[in-house]
Amino acid sequence: MLQPLQEQIAEATGFIRRQLPDEWSPQIGIILGSGLGSLADEIQAVASLPYSSIPGFASSSVEGHAGRLVLGTLEGTRVVAMQGRFHFYEGYDLQQVTFPVRVMKALGAHTLVVTNAAGGLNPDFRAGDLMFITDHINMLGWGGQNPLIGPNDAQLGPRFLAMNPAYDPELLQLGLKIAEECNVRVRQGVYIVLAGPNYETRAELRLLRQWGADAVGMSTVPEVLVARHGGMRVLGISAITNMALAESNEPVNHEEVLAVAEELRPRFLRLMRGLIARIGT
Ligand code: HPA
Repeated sequence: MLQPLQEQIAEATGFIRRQLPDEWSPQIGIILGSGLGSLADEIQAVASLPYSSIPGFASSSVEGHAGRLVLGTLEGTRVVAMQGRFHFYEGYDLQQVTFPVRVMKALGAHTLVVTNAAGGLNPDFRAGDLMFITDHINMLGWGGQNPLIGPNDAQLGPRFLAMNPAYDPELLQLGLKIAEECNVRVRQGVYIVLAGPNYETRAELRLLRQWGADAVGMSTVPEVLVARHGGMRVLGISAITNMALAESNEPVNHEEVLAVAEELRPRFLRLMRGLIARIGT
């Protein structure tokens, strides 16, 4: 008998498969962060499904998040992309936030490319930079919020999950090479997740930087945990949409985040196309 989570995954996967050509399965899962969703428009889609139509999916509402699952081919690679994601700060629990990753894996994706908008804590960074995530700090988990809490289904993954490394070192090296070939300058650094939805105080920013984080955001880590739990390889990219420096008196705002995401979009798309072309197999 299937465990409850497996049943939900099977139901969602069955629904999605019925919309796909026979034998079609994705190689790579992609999660597109705030302001970065336009990559999904470039996929030669075999199916485009609003989250609200998929059994077990919650529905996404925030500005800058369209809320659909797009399956199709990009640069010769079969992908399943989330255009818009679920955030903890919207009131979803982390099971809901990460359910799509379980489904991507069940559909056949062996690799997850996860993206987000983030604030730059590293003073060498600039708004508009792109950063490969080398590692993360899970403040949601420290606060008792982790999608892996609860009964563990050993068929889905291990009870005690090793997270060193969390982000695939070989993919990261390949990513750096591809970025150079695509002529896109990339940074590397540690991503720290907070629950949000408010941006950080100056005292918090000072602390996060002292802890060794280079970028701060409100997503990604729960999805990465579930991807790793399911044995997927993970590559993470943060778009630094604003600087988040303790010394600054400039308040961050969501409009600025979206405007900078717009400005860096051509570089982001070039990098993503290069990556997707090369990491399919
Ligand atoms: N802090 C937290 N999350 C963010 C930020 C920030 O400065 N920018 C974009 N997402």
